[in-house]
Amino acid sequence: MIISRSIEEIREVVANWRLEGCDIGLVPTMGYFHDGHLELMRTSVHRADKTVVSLFVNPTQFGPGEDLDVYPRDFDGDCAKARQVGVDAMFCPGPQEIYQSGYKTEVSVASLAAGLCGVDRPGHFTGVATVVTKLFNIVLPDYAFFGDKDFQQLRIIQQLTQDLNFAISIVGVPIVREDDGLAMSSRNAYLSESERQEVLVLYKALQLIRQRVFESKGTIDTDDLIKTAAALFDKNNSCSLEYLSIVDEQSLQGLSKVWGRCRALGAIRVNQRIRLIDNMALYR
Ligand code: PAJ
Repeated sequence: MIISRSIEEIREVVANWRLEGCDIGLVPTMGYFHDGHLELMRTSVHRADKTVVSLFVNPTQFGPGEDLDVYPRDFDGDCAKARQVGVDAMFCPGPQEIYQSGYKTEVSVASLAAGLCGVDRPGHFTGVATVVTKLFNIVLPDYAFFGDKDFQQLRIIQQLTQDLNFAISIVGVPIVREDDGLAMSSRNAYLSESERQEVLVLYKALQLIRQRVFESKGTIDTDDLIKTAAALFDKNNSCSLEYLSIVDEQSLQGLSKVWGRCRALGAIRVNQRIRLIDNMALYR
């Protein structure tokens, strides 16, 4: 597996693969790999001739007071895991390589970034959209793989790919969960043993919503559903609900009735320290 730290080097690696007639898959990550990341990599290895994984803890997507400085890192462990699933190259630039001094251009997908996680993390999705645009231009992949786990992020990236005419197929990969349902996340590493149990409330709330939708025969008001699911948080003292919404998958706009391809999305804060997200489709 090639490990490259500079833009020039990864461009040359990819250009040589292209000359050999290979197509390229890109899996953007911030490292500290768990099985969710590895599933994206396996999907890419299966789909594309060559897979590049980028590992870059992107400073511009963290707000003031967020966890940039303590974000979990394990470079050697990550390389070993990526190698094991058949990744061909890791692109691991430092912040100066990506953001040269004086850079001024940002990418924002304003209407999709304003709600949901955008409310509590202003600027976050501009950081994400900007770095992903840069990674697309650096690696020039044919496919790029993103998890449904960060559904708003996935929609923003699909939109920017279309709007900016990138010739890249965006592939969404289903959420990988622990045995008890918790969505895998690098940030789960911050949880104490008791918090680890309590955070399951978000998964349970989403499951309750889905169960009610699947059981119902007529149309359902989303307000009632959300109220019922949000009540699960009343008995839970370490996890507070940041938002719980039922939205149209395409527009990410809230819906008054469950209808078509819609999805429940939620975010919680654990003891005011750790922010976790999850979501579930409300159709079969
Ligand atoms: P990161 O949080 O490291 O996630 C990298 C990719 O893994 C994202 O596409 C995310 O949706 C996916 N992922 C995380 N947990 C998952 C799970 N349990 N199941 C399936 N996929 C999962 O998301 C980012 O990094 C950054 O914002 C990035 C896109 C790299 C831009 O900096």
